[in-house]
Parts: sequence; structure tokens; C-alpha cells
Amino acid sequence: MNDLVNLLEYEERARQVLPRMVYDYFASGAGAELTVGANCSDFDRLRLRPRALVGVGNRDHSTTVFGQKIPSPIAVAPMAFQKLAHVDGEMASVRGSGTAGALFVASTMATYRMEEMAAAATGPIWFQLYVFKDRGLTRALVQRAETAGFTALQVTSDVPVMGLRETDMRNAFQVPPEFKIKNVESELPPSDAEMGDALYANCQFDVDLNWKDVEWLCGLTKLPVLVKGILRGDDAVRALDHGAKGVVVSNHGGRQLDTAISTIEALPEIVDAIGGRGEIVIDGGIRRGIDILKALALGATVAQVGRPVIWGLSLGGEDGVARALTLLRNEFDNVMAQCGCRTVKAITRDLVAR
Ligand code: FNR
Ligand code: LAC
Repeated sequence: MNDLVNLLEYEERARQVLPRMVYDYFASGAGAELTVGANCSDFDRLRLRPRALVGVGNRDHSTTVFGQKIPSPIAVAPMAFQKLAHVDGEMASVRGSGTAGALFVASTMATYRMEEMAAAATGPIWFQLYVFKDRGLTRALVQRAETAGFTALQVTSDVPVMGLRETDMRNAFQVPPEFKIKNVESELPPSDAEMGDALYANCQFDVDLNWKDVEWLCGLTKLPVLVKGILRGDDAVRALDHGAKGVVVSNHGGRQLDTAISTIEALPEIVDAIGGRGEIVIDGGIRRGIDILKALALGATVAQVGRPVIWGLSLGGEDGVARALTLLRNEFDNVMAQCGCRTVKAITRDLVAR
């Protein structure tokens, strides 16, 4: 792993070591994967306007979200079934994230229980919630997350139905039965907890989920709630009007609606629409430190990284996750210096050419 100089090379190496079907599940997206590509290429298209001669010694990566100081604006996006990548799965990811100073977001669909992840965490942790048709089960997940010490919830809005992932269909991909959704293992009927078919049968997610449910959810918990999967300014405003304290600008890494707008393209409209009333997190296509700086310049507070963390996990478990995230953080540090930013606050919109 030491010979890899960027996260694209991590992916290439992981592709060589993972079983084909597993690599495909992690890497692929919906339809023709146009949104998967656009998430990255739209970052690449943006040009920077670096500030000269600022004096950039002693750079500080720390930032604040919901009043909580975090070591860096980098987070690990919630991702399901991490044991498919490495036996230590989410336990390795949460530990590696802490080492690298990244916020870790645990998925509802994890292969370890949230309480185990929370106990192993050495850094900030948030929980991603899928709302199940069974509201009692959903409420129990929220209460457990609060008790376990997660400090915010991301409720995912962009999976009313599963995206049409053609690579998985072609592979007849199923999550092997030994990989249980540990957070709900005892509560769901065994066939759903195993998820093989359920990945396509849509498990027990509520297809009727709507804004009233966001209000219900926000009333259930003291934790700040972010609605994940927002791509429009009007929806961002709606989220806040229904009690959310922020949004995650996301298209699920291009795994849901193909040709959905890329997240970096959607971001400015959302920033303008909510005008500082809520926190803005972004994910999708972040592969380099440059992308993080661009996301922050255009108004996000936290940049979430998805697949590259899986590649690090596949190659080296906890150490692999820590290395991948540290590489990204070092790149971010380098770009901050070159753009004349000593602090995260100094990363402003004028750094990106219009
Ligand atoms: C995801 N994502 C996701 N999102 C979510 O809210 N709950 C989940 O359980 C999952 N599971 C999941 C599994 C895998 C394998 C991937 C790749 C993604 C979406 C994820 O949180 C995030 O939105 C994207 O992954 C970000 O895009 P990049 O960084 O992977 O391009
Ligand atoms: C995925 C679901 C589980 O993207 O969120 O695979």
C-alpha cells in the first residue's frame, strides 16, 4: 500500500484483490453510471484561484459542526456491509477514521452493531438512519444511537426504491447470508435480516417516507438530524422547515438515480437557498484533497468520502483505512497551503473560478 500515491491507485489495487462481485457491488452505480462519473468529473472541471503570499505556516484543519469541534472537515460516508471488504468491517473503519482525524458515519446496514462501533471509536461519530416501515424499530434505532454516543443522525431520503444497478443484476449479486445487518438482526424477519434478496426487494424501508416523517423523527431525538440525499435548494429549505438542522448534499454516490445532478454542481444552489440556517455536508466523487477544498469553498462544512475508504479497508483493514484517509488529509493540507489558507474558515468561494 505504501507505493500508492493517490486514492485512485487504491481503487485499482483493491480491484485486483477483491472478489469481482464484491468489487462491483462497492464500485458500481445505477444505469449507465453517468452520475458516478459526473460526481468526479464536475470536481475536476472547477479551476482554482489561489491566493498569493498569505503566510501559511501552522495550518489548522479543525472545524466546527453543530457546535462540536472536529479535527478535520473530512468524514467517512455511511456504507453498508463493510465486512464484505475485510473481516473487521466497520470496526476497522471506525478505528482507522479516528486515527486519521475523520468523522465516522455508521450505516444502519452495518455488519457490526452500532454499540460496538461506538465503544471502539476514538473520534466523532454520527449514525445514518434508514426509516423502516416498522416505526417502533426505527424509534428503537434512534434511541440506541443517542444512548451509544452518536452525536448526529443522517436520515437517508434517496432510497424510496433501490436504484437499478445493472452490474449487480448481471452478477446476480447477493449479500452472503453470513453477513447479517447486525443493528436489526433480531428485529427483522430472518430473510430480511440476511438481505440477500432484500437488497432488491427493498428490505423493510418505507417507500411512503415523506416530510411529515422527518418532523416525527426530529421530535423523537435531541440529536441534530440531517436529511441525506438532497439535490435541490427548495428541498433543503423544506428539510429545515420540518425540523432538520442540516442536509447532506448527496446522490448516493450515483447508485440511485442515474443522470441525477452531480453533488458539486448542486451545492451552490443549496448553499444560497438555506443561507446559513443549517449545516451542509456533501458527498459523491471526493477523491483528492483538492476536491475537499473545492467543496468547502463552495459552502459545505464537511466533505464525506465513500468508496475510497472501502478500498483502504480492503487492502489493509484498520491500517488501510487510516492510511487512505491520512493520504487524503495530507493532500488537503497541501492544497490549503497552496491556496493561501491557514485555517478552514479561510477557504472561501472566491478560490473557485466562476
Ligand atoms: C453507500 N451509501 C450509503 N448511504 C446510506 O445512506 N446508507 C448506506 O447504507 C449506504 N451504503 C452504501 C454502500 C456502498 C458500498 C456505497 C459505495 C455507498 C452512499 C454513501 O453514503 C455516499 O453517499 C456515497 O458513497 C458517496 O459517494 P462516493 O464517495 O462513494 O463517490
Ligand atoms: C447501497 C445501499 C445499501 O447503496 O445504501 O448499497
